[in-house]
Order: sequence, then structure tokens, then C-alpha cells
Amino acid sequence: MNRHLISAGDLTKDDALLILDTAEELARVSERSIKKLPTLRGRTVVNLFFEDSTRTRISFEAAAKRLSADVINFSAKGSSVSKGESLKDTALTLEAMGADAVVIRHGSSGAPHRLATWVRGSVVNAGDGTHEHPTQALLDAFSMRRRLGGLDGRRITIVGDVLHSRVARSNVLLLATLGADVTLVAPPTLLPVSVGSWPCEVSYDLDAALPKSDAVMMLRVQKERMNAAYFPSEREYSRRYGLDRDRFAKMPDEAIVMHPGPMNRGMEIAAEVADSPRSTIVEQVANGVTIRMAVLYLLLGGETVA
Ligand code: CP
Repeated sequence: MNRHLISAGDLTKDDALLILDTAEELARVSERSIKKLPTLRGRTVVNLFFEDSTRTRISFEAAAKRLSADVINFSAKGSSVSKGESLKDTALTLEAMGADAVVIRHGSSGAPHRLATWVRGSVVNAGDGTHEHPTQALLDAFSMRRRLGGLDGRRITIVGDVLHSRVARSNVLLLATLGADVTLVAPPTLLPVSVGSWPCEVSYDLDAALPKSDAVMMLRVQKERMNAAYFPSEREYSRRYGLDRDRFAKMPDEAIVMHPGPMNRGMEIAAEVADSPRSTIVEQVANGVTIRMAVLYLLLGGETVA
């Protein structure tokens, strides 16, 4: 594996399977009464968050602590970033405090890539702009593999605001590597121009895609990134691209529903669908800790899981 995890596209199939298999072993450790492993004792993980996060930030912290690493949490709000300090100077300051790994979330696509040229430790991309969110894709693949029994040949439909979604891009790249067939469904205004070069199919018709899906991943409509009108109204978007009870009934009986969170309940997904037994949304959060343990463990040179 590379020293950094910046793009899901950098992972070979063997790398991805190693992370998923390591996460399975670590999940077994998490079921023990003493959940903590001494593997990363004496190592320091810095969580460097320039954008808001609930799931990713907390799960990286929990993951590092379960591996006995020291954790430094940095949030841009309340830091010297507000006085104009640059990303490079912030990173070098944290490295001077002994960071072995820097987990970064940043509003600018490419920020983790730049950071990797400045610091000696491993860099993990926890979401950069509209670009990538590789650990989200890994936890999604882990959740699908557990529920569906494997990913090879599985039909995964990803629905909604693909244009602003780093989750969609990382999932398409990783799922293609793992042998799944991915279809993106979105209004034409919410698809990136480059989508033709992505390893997936594209459709505008959600009702046609649902009966052929083993998993349906709904994406959040990212209103905070929208600087124009991408659809006539929220009601119209929901009517065409929302997963409500009637659409849910069109899915095969064993198919699962996913969402990376945070959700706009009632817009891209109905509350009763999000809360159904076939929804993996809460599992995805729990699996996020396990996957992030596996990533830190492998990047920082953990030994065999004992
Ligand atoms: N899925 C995800 O990245 O959620 P947060 O923004 O809460 O970290």
C-alpha cells in the first residue's frame, strides 16, 4: 500500500481487499470486552478539520484511540487559520508536535495531495471539496460486502447530487476496482462534465434503475455548495429523484438502502425508508470506526492483529 490514502483510485484490488479483510479482523477485536489494541502506542494521529464533520471526525478519533495512538484534534474554527495562517504553516506546526499521520478534511479539492508534499507522516484524505472521500467509500464497500456477501457483479445505484459529491466519485472508483457494476442516477444538471470518463453507467431514470439494484445509495443534496438553481424546486427534485415508500417498493426484496449522512430527510430519502431494516445507514457509521482503524493500522505499519 502507498504511504498516503488520498484517492480511492490509488487503491489496487489487493490493497482494497487487504483493508476490508483487516477491518473484518478488527471488528472481531471490537466485540471483545477489552476493545483496545496496543498497536499504535507512541504514535500520534492529528485530525486536521477545516470543514464541518460529525461522523468522519469522531470515527477517526475513536479509531486512533482504539489502537492506542495519541490523538490531536485540530479544528480550523478557533485556530490561527482565522488570523490568516496557511495550510502549509498549520501542517508544519502540527508536524513539529510529532504527527505520524495527518487526517485532513478541507474545502479545497487537492488539499490532501498538497499536504502530502509538505509533511513526513502519512496523509489520509477525510474529504476534500467535491473531489474524494476514500474512507467513506471503503466503509460503504465494507457495509455492502457484509450485507450482500460480496461485491463482484453486484449492481450498485448511486442517486442524486453527484456534481458536488466526493462520496460518489470515491465510491465509483472503488466499486469498479472491486468488480461491482455502478449506475449513477441524477438530473443532468447535477452530473459533472467529466462523468463520461468514470467507470460506470449514467441514467436519468430512477424508476428504471431501482428494480435492477442490489444496493441503492442516496446522496445528500448539498445546498451549501450550490450557487445556482440546479432543479426547479425541492418538491420537484424529491418527486423525480427522492427515495420514498413507493419507490422503495420497486427495489428487489433483498436490496439495501444506503446514505453517507448527513441526510435531508424528506428530500432525497423518506424517513420511513431511512429507518427501515433494509437501511444500512446506522451500520455505515459503526463500520466507519472499523475501517478507519484498518486504514491507520496499515498505514502506520501495524503488526498482525492479535
Ligand atoms: N459522511 C460524512 O462524511 O459525514 P460527516 O460530514 O459528518 O463527516
